[in-house]
Amino acid sequence: MGLAELFHSMTNTHSLPSLDLDGVACYMMSPKCRRICVMAGAGISVSAGIPDFRSIATGIYNSKATTAYSSLPTPQHMFDNEYFLSDQAPFYSFFAKDLFPSATTKPTRTHHFLRLLSQKGLLTKMYTQNIDSLERLAGLPPDKIIEVHGSLATASCAECGKSCDAQRMAKTIRRGGLPTCEKCGGAQKPDITFFGEKLPFLVREQMKLKMPDLRNCDLLLVIGTSLAVQPFAGFIDKVPRGCPRVFVNKGAVGSGRAGEYDDKGGQHMWGALGNYRDVLLEGECDRIILQLASKLGWMDELNGVVKEFEGELRRNGGKVDVEGKLLGSSAPVYPD
Ligand code: OAD
Ligand code: ZN
Repeated sequence: MGLAELFHSMTNTHSLPSLDLDGVACYMMSPKCRRICVMAGAGISVSAGIPDFRSIATGIYNSKATTAYSSLPTPQHMFDNEYFLSDQAPFYSFFAKDLFPSATTKPTRTHHFLRLLSQKGLLTKMYTQNIDSLERLAGLPPDKIIEVHGSLATASCAECGKSCDAQRMAKTIRRGGLPTCEKCGGAQKPDITFFGEKLPFLVREQMKLKMPDLRNCDLLLVIGTSLAVQPFAGFIDKVPRGCPRVFVNKGAVGSGRAGEYDDKGGQHMWGALGNYRDVLLEGECDRIILQLASKLGWMDELNGVVKEFEGELRRNGGKVDVEGKLLGSSAPVYPD
């Protein structure tokens, strides 16, 4: 541990005045809270009309969207690399019908709040498992977003890795065709991380560097994720000892542990004796985020961010300007 980190960990402990929304708002308004990291999952896009994975009945893994494909051993095989290499039909069919947000899918209040955090210079990094690019559409600067499981913005060959035009690939799939690599004839797929695949280069680089933004953050917001998938779930332990961690979710998630708080990592500890830094804010994330914004006195600014977005939308004839927002991608990827 370097000197700066040691100082940070010593001075940053026990900073939440209370383990609830008031305590979080109070801490966020204090000068101690200058660097906020966010870890997010499918729950933040649910109110935009995109289902999550694991919610009972509505989650992709429990709904018709995946259970309709009887050839899949389990719904998760929809996103399994080995399975995809042997049989592309279920994924392509799912991709064509269910995977894309529509051209009118809009970022949620939670996304807009994150944009505001960024505008205020408080957001250092947003780690998202989502592939819907709604963070980018909301206007978060691309260098603040780490798409841990890739995104639909780009595509490549699943066999040799040669990149291809994501939009052309999407059109071929929607026409019922099989998009194949011009170099090796392998199947093409969007650059979303399937089970059994390496994480994107940028993520591996961050992991090699031991997640510098997380190591140096003053507050971690974990929003709308079940924390069921590694290594993402383990990122909650990369923040300094003592750094407050706030979990915003419809229900309690992850592997909380009853008993005394030992701060050794691996679990979050709301409810445990001695817990001083983990907070669960239970409920719909948009509602909780609005409550937080209100406590922070940020409602006018948040409304301003939303208005700005809506204005841009109107200028684009009601369609989200995907192309303009996807840095490094030449093609809009949502359906025409
Ligand atoms: P999950 O579906 O596993 O978890 C979403 C979480 O958000 C659940 O805990 C829900 O209770 C919660 N949730 C849903 N709606 C919410 C709302 N409106 N407000 C607050 N919370 C809400 O999705 P992820 O954690 O993102 O990976 O899943 C992680 C990974 O598993 C995905 O990236 C995907 C999947 O397999 C790959 O495909 C590689
Ligand atoms: Zn190829």
